Amino acid sequence: MAGKRMNRWFVPKGQEMTEMDKKILFYQHKGHLVPTRKLIKTPEQIEGTRRSGVVNTGVLDLVGREIHAGMSTAAIDKLVYEYTLDHHAVPATLGYEGFPKSCCVSVNEVVCHGIPNECEILEEGDIVNVDCTTILDGYYADASRMFIIGQTTPEKEKLVKVAKECLEIGMQTAKPYCFVGDLGHAIDRHARKNGFSVVRDLCGHGVGLEFHEEPDVEHYGKKGTGMLLVPGMVFTIEPMINMGTWEVFIDEEDGWTVVTEDELPSAQWEHTFVMTEQGLEILTY
Ligand code: MF3
Ligand code: CO
Ligand code: CO
Repeated sequence: MAGKRMNRWFVPKGQEMTEMDKKILFYQHKGHLVPTRKLIKTPEQIEGTRRSGVVNTGVLDLVGREIHAGMSTAAIDKLVYEYTLDHHAVPATLGYEGFPKSCCVSVNEVVCHGIPNECEILEEGDIVNVDCTTILDGYYADASRMFIIGQTTPEKEKLVKVAKECLEIGMQTAKPYCFVGDLGHAIDRHARKNGFSVVRDLCGHGVGLEFHEEPDVEHYGKKGTGMLLVPGMVFTIEPMINMGTWEVFIDEEDGWTVVTEDELPSAQWEHTFVMTEQGLEILTY
């Protein structure tokens, strides 16, 4: 990418060259973007992120049991805050770059980063994304799900279903030593095939030791582009799928809420994954 500094892989002096080193150096020589060592997690770091993922899953399960028409989005936030602290963890969004709440709640045409609010009341037919990031013992796990309030329209139901399939297709496409662009290509194809579009301004990301690490995981793109994905890397896939145009804008008043340009609905699902020798394993189950 123009202007972007490329990571440089090297084998420290006196250290034996592993099979992984050889493969990474091979792709680096061909001009591909490769990870840094910090992005390849130790088994201990992966276990830490998995434990954080258990709390994260508990939070989203709780939200799934409690969410209903007539509830405010602030009431969801309260559930997330209390459950997370009760489990000796911290909600990562609280105070993150000034974000004021413990989760993001994004309703209908809100793509992501919706701020929970006392005055926003869920209604029958709403499609709602709840996105929670948990920090446990310093390890970050990030996941989101869609919830349908009562009965919605067939179109919105399809949007929610296709967005979930996009995440699953991204997961299945990601094999060791593939590229981020391989996932993006497959996800975008599935969205288009169903008449929907993929948001381009926001992406998935490395995660684990920090909230947002390298690489950027774009949900569209060309095969064979973007960072090489190798065993031990931990990252999210979180496609945002729009019913209409892929274009979005940020609410000027709060500086956070991302809304579709045409104000048609949007849906998103997210998991945190670790790349293994066999492919992706979900850490937020
Ligand atoms: N959890 C979001 C993600 O998937 C990030 C939310 S940042 C916030 O990356 F500040 F808006 F909360
Ligand atoms: Co994320
Ligand atoms: Co998230």
